[in-house]
Amino acid sequence: MLLLASALFLALVQASVALHTSTSAKATSTVALNTAAKAAGKLYFGTATDNPELTDKAYATLLNNTMMFGQLTPGNTMKWYATEPEKNVFNFTGGDQIVALAKATGKIIRGHNLIWHNQLPDWVTNGSWTPETLAPVIETHVRTEASHYAGKMYSWDVINEPLYDNGTMRANVFYQTLDSSYISIALRAAHAADPKAKLYINDYNLESTGPKIDAMVHLVKNLLAAGVPIHGIGFQGHFILGEVYPSQLQTNMERITALSLEVAVTELDIRIKLPATDADLEQQKADYMSVVQTCVAVSKCVGVTVWDYTDRHSWIPSFFPGYGEACPWDVNLVRKPAYDGIAMAFKNCTM
Ligand SMILES: *[C@@H]1O[C@H](CO)[C@@H](O)[C@H](O)[C@H]1NC(C)=O
Ligand SMILES: *[C@@H]1O[C@H](CO)[C@@H](O)[C@H](O)[C@H]1NC(C)=O
Ligand SMILES: *[C@@H]1O[C@H](CO)[C@@H](O)[C@H](O)[C@H]1NC(C)=O
Ligand SMILES: *[C@@H]1O[C@H](CO)[C@@H](O)[C@H](O)[C@H]1NC(C)=O
Repeated sequence: MLLLASALFLALVQASVALHTSTSAKATSTVALNTAAKAAGKLYFGTATDNPELTDKAYATLLNNTMMFGQLTPGNTMKWYATEPEKNVFNFTGGDQIVALAKATGKIIRGHNLIWHNQLPDWVTNGSWTPETLAPVIETHVRTEASHYAGKMYSWDVINEPLYDNGTMRANVFYQTLDSSYISIALRAAHAADPKAKLYINDYNLESTGPKIDAMVHLVKNLLAAGVPIHGIGFQGHFILGEVYPSQLQTNMERITALSLEVAVTELDIRIKLPATDADLEQQKADYMSVVQTCVAVSKCVGVTVWDYTDRHSWIPSFFPGYGEACPWDVNLVRKPAYDGIAMAFKNCTM
């Protein structure tokens, strides 16, 4: 009786500890995620990474495991500020390091990115441009970078985030100077430089129905009608916990694949308002599972990339103060329940 009572007491204590400790829930799945993705007919399960993180030995050891990650996206070092910091002065040192790592470990690469309104060097952002002066600058940047990596990229995010959430074109320096023609200028230059790379437009908040996906479908139709090379749309997938709507995501992906393009989940993370509870981690598992199940259900969804695999190197806490724990591995590189959600989604692919 006494034994039973103390066992019960212990169980209650453990239950209450479990309720109040954010990282007490662990994954139990033993399947490796890239292996699982391939078994489900996808090209890859991959992750973003960034050059400074590669000195983190434990991080890099798991990153190198190609059964876990079959694809890399460089987080920063292929962006314009890093690759052409001054006009016609190119620097591919950082990007080359990621490409070499991918090659040595048998991974494919999503090049990221050629044209974006953020992380631009001042000489582009603050230049006083005319259509006649800016168009060749775009062409030179895209051609030089895409040629440098020609034959080494699975795909390029040629255009990143061209739309506002209300579906209008983002008024960046390129649009303000060249109207939406900057998009076809960049896509044509990338295709000429690397004809085998799949050319993508990549954006966020395409995952739910509304004006943004409508505008993306419209944009793609216009590009196709004009004979502009475009092969895929990236659904970034930066979600907030509990706000994954898989049927909307599937509808939106299928609107794109109906135009003969492929799609991919390119920057997946699911952020939690801190402090995270065990219930939150269970919800996060369900949310990760929903997203990956949707990619599995859409045959032309080629793969899923997480925006870094561990909370240790996530951009979320600094970008969305008060939020965090967005990745499938925690800060100690321990697999969270989200890992099981991803594994189950790939494993049940025949359902
Ligand atoms: C990861 O792989 C690269 C390329 O083979 C190698 O240079 C590096 O030392 C590896 N890192 C770790 C931590 O194993
Ligand atoms: C090129 O980029 C690398 C890595 O980002 C940096 O260390 C190096 O200083 C740069 N080289 C030049 C000449 O700016
Ligand atoms: C470029 O413009 C930004 C914002 O308008 C400003 O903060 C920055 O100081 C400018 N840089 C230069 C070199 O003029
Ligand atoms: C769309 O959103 C952008 C960014 O918030 C805003 O500047 C623009 O005025 C909006 N356009 C319309 C038509 O609502």
